[in-house]
Amino acid sequence: MPETRDWTRLAVFGGKPAFGETLHVGRPNVGDREGFLARVNDILDRRWLTNNGKYVQEFERRIADFVGVRHCISMCNATVALEITTRALGMSGEVIVPSFTFIATAHALQWQEITPVFCDIDPATHNLDPARVEEMITPRTTGIIGVHVWGRPCVVDALTGIARRRGLKLIFDAAHAFGCSHGGRMIGGFGDAEVYSFHATKFLNSFEGGAVVTDDDALAGRVRLMKNFGFAGYDNVSYIGTNGKMTEVCAAMGLSSLESMADVIDVNRKNYLQYREELKEVPGVRVAAYDERDRCNYQYVVLEVDESGPLPARDFLARILHAENVFVRRYFHPGCHRMEPYRSYFPHAGLLLPNTERLARRVLLLPTGTAVTSREIAEIGWIIRTVFRDGAEIRERLERSPR
Ligand SMILES: Cc1ncc(COP(=O)(O)O)c(C=O)c1O
Repeated sequence: MPETRDWTRLAVFGGKPAFGETLHVGRPNVGDREGFLARVNDILDRRWLTNNGKYVQEFERRIADFVGVRHCISMCNATVALEITTRALGMSGEVIVPSFTFIATAHALQWQEITPVFCDIDPATHNLDPARVEEMITPRTTGIIGVHVWGRPCVVDALTGIARRRGLKLIFDAAHAFGCSHGGRMIGGFGDAEVYSFHATKFLNSFEGGAVVTDDDALAGRVRLMKNFGFAGYDNVSYIGTNGKMTEVCAAMGLSSLESMADVIDVNRKNYLQYREELKEVPGVRVAAYDERDRCNYQYVVLEVDESGPLPARDFLARILHAENVFVRRYFHPGCHRMEPYRSYFPHAGLLLPNTERLARRVLLLPTGTAVTSREIAEIGWIIRTVFRDGAEIRERLERSPR
């Protein structure tokens, strides 16, 4: 893009938006449409729509094989999967979680009247800081839920060591991390269990969906019972359960997504590298890096915007991009601890979460995935470079113009 283009023509000043159609973060990837529709026809022909059907079984088998775990139990979504897993592990009292996560991680606990104890993160990884985790343990603590934010692995070894030493259960919320590895092992095989999300916006989608993966036979058995009302056979309920089942159509979509996974990773990686190139010389912004020694799904392009200095801050940049129809997102602003009910329960939680609060003010997610083209990324790169080059003037003019 020509760097000489005139910033006074930005949409925020009344110019034509750069994009006619809004660009979204997490626009769903749609894999092999024909293959999906063939499976749907088969489902309709066989009239087996849910309840552990052929496609659910195939989906579970293929995920377990891919990840290298003994059990995969598919679910209607990751939130219910987290609720069931925490319950099946007997978590109670307090469980340590990051606040820098999607609200579902905390809600899955609170829904069962387990207190989520928010723990600070390492600003370099955006994930739980093990040293802080250790400090948050009390006599009421029964477990830890680490979140592999953006698909970048938690410090798995340290968290596993803490859990073992202190007699705690350990779950990983791997909602972002399907297809990612850590130290040569697929994410999914760590802790007592890990939980994936296959929500439409996720790297691998089944419209809505999730799964619990584990090597623990007894835990897998309990999770299976719990997701199906506690039915241990016809007319035999042996447990309190809920309805967490995945439908056949969702499993069919999941299978199609699995089959196109490699193509999606290629596109995501290309987009990520292009964004890094476009923005590499912009002072005050940084695209969070993936460790190329591990497998990554590159599903998120995460921009960190410096707060210090005269340059424009994150919210200012977001305002300009939104006007251009680039619907960037401030995940996970403002942090779970600043949302209800946690804000009222723990009004001072932020005092122990300085890195979380700081990061929540800096992060901006950019559109990527198969719905975004290289030209569009180049255009977004131009806008961001321009905003940072002429930030002071743009800001001054913006402050004079009505919202
Ligand atoms: C980190 C994290 N945990 C849990 C969830 C919940 O997943 P689901 O929408 O499948 O319930 C999400 C989803 O957006 C997430 O990002």
